[in-house]
Amino acid sequence: MKTINWGIMGLGKIAHKFAKDLKETESATLLGVASRSESKAKEFASQYQSKWAYGSYEDLLDNKEIDIIYVATPHSHHYENVMMCFDAGKNVLCEKAFAVNAKQVRAMVDKARQEGLFLMEGMWSRFNPALQDAKNDIESGLIGTLQAVKADFCFHQPYDLTSRLCNKKLAGGALLDIGIYPIFLSYYMLGKPVRMNVEAEYYPNGTDKNLVMLFDYENGREAILNCSLQYFSPCDGFLYGENGCIRIHGRWHEANTYTRFVKSMDFPVTKGYGHKPLSFKFEIEEVNSCLLNGQLESKKWTLQNSIELMEILDEVRSEIKLDYGGLEAL
Ligand SMILES: NC(=O)c1ccc[n+]([C@@H]2O[C@H](COP(=O)([O-])OP(=O)(O)OC[C@H]3O[C@@H](n4cnc5c(N)ncnc54)[C@H](OP(=O)(O)O)[C@@H]3O)[C@@H](O)[C@H]2O)c1
Repeated sequence: MKTINWGIMGLGKIAHKFAKDLKETESATLLGVASRSESKAKEFASQYQSKWAYGSYEDLLDNKEIDIIYVATPHSHHYENVMMCFDAGKNVLCEKAFAVNAKQVRAMVDKARQEGLFLMEGMWSRFNPALQDAKNDIESGLIGTLQAVKADFCFHQPYDLTSRLCNKKLAGGALLDIGIYPIFLSYYMLGKPVRMNVEAEYYPNGTDKNLVMLFDYENGREAILNCSLQYFSPCDGFLYGENGCIRIHGRWHEANTYTRFVKSMDFPVTKGYGHKPLSFKFEIEEVNSCLLNGQLESKKWTLQNSIELMEILDEVRSEIKLDYGGLEAL
């Protein structure tokens, strides 16, 4: 069986999780990893049996055997790191949020197309089979026309200036880190809103901590969304139809169960899926399948989807006047 050779750029928290799932995916081989620190790269490589360990991102890109780079650096660095990969002729899977604004995302997409290289945003929830089936249920009319989406993503992050999450210079904060998920669900189910109301609260250094968002759509449909780095939530997601409701069990963005209620609370139908939560397996399989079939983008999560999602995030930021200073320049 032909496998895809992966490289990982930036060996932080999520890179560990991704490497573990990569090892468990049949069609993938972890061939090289790169950190700004050589000793960290060596330790990571030995933990996940990567053949190569590099103390610089550039050296990883020089490895001719690597087919695709997983970019797992902070949001502030995605644009620059993705462009570096393209200059070296590498395909890219880049973590969410794809960049800091839609202008950067469009430039990344243009460059991928110019160079004939694969590019995808790591919006891994899109490949979750439970979410896909919930959407199929809606499209087959099981709960009537979808009228509203309610979703959140919350956990407690103490104010800690050493954490990426509280660091505006790395484009941390609630919106790009976790708010992007409920916004993704509303976009996946309802498309782009026509109007929005947004309220936000901030850490003392101006990094966004809590957002409450109300989106309006054509025909009076709506999304009620929030994200918080202040308090805990089980993160259930709800899809409300005219005749019923789907509850995606928390945390909905990594769900392996959902329950469908039709007309009443009697006789709920619960569907369970075997996968462990927080699984990158489906996303990795999608990328591998695209590369093996010569596709330059995923049909399930297209580059246009990523542009539109970031346009919504830009609008949210404009509502609350949140900017990332110089990071927004190309
Ligand atoms: N899909 C998911 O479920 C999920 C979950 C969490 C995070 N994420 C996303 O993954 C990305 C990374 O998040 P994370 O939580 O893994 O972050 P993290 O633990 O802070 O790791 C980020 C890594 O980026 C590298 N880096 C390069 N330049 C840096 C700089 N100037 N300052 C700090 N680090 C720098 C560092 O790796 P080296 O030192 O090795 O170079 C660092 O370890 C973000 O886009 C985030 O939104 C996704």
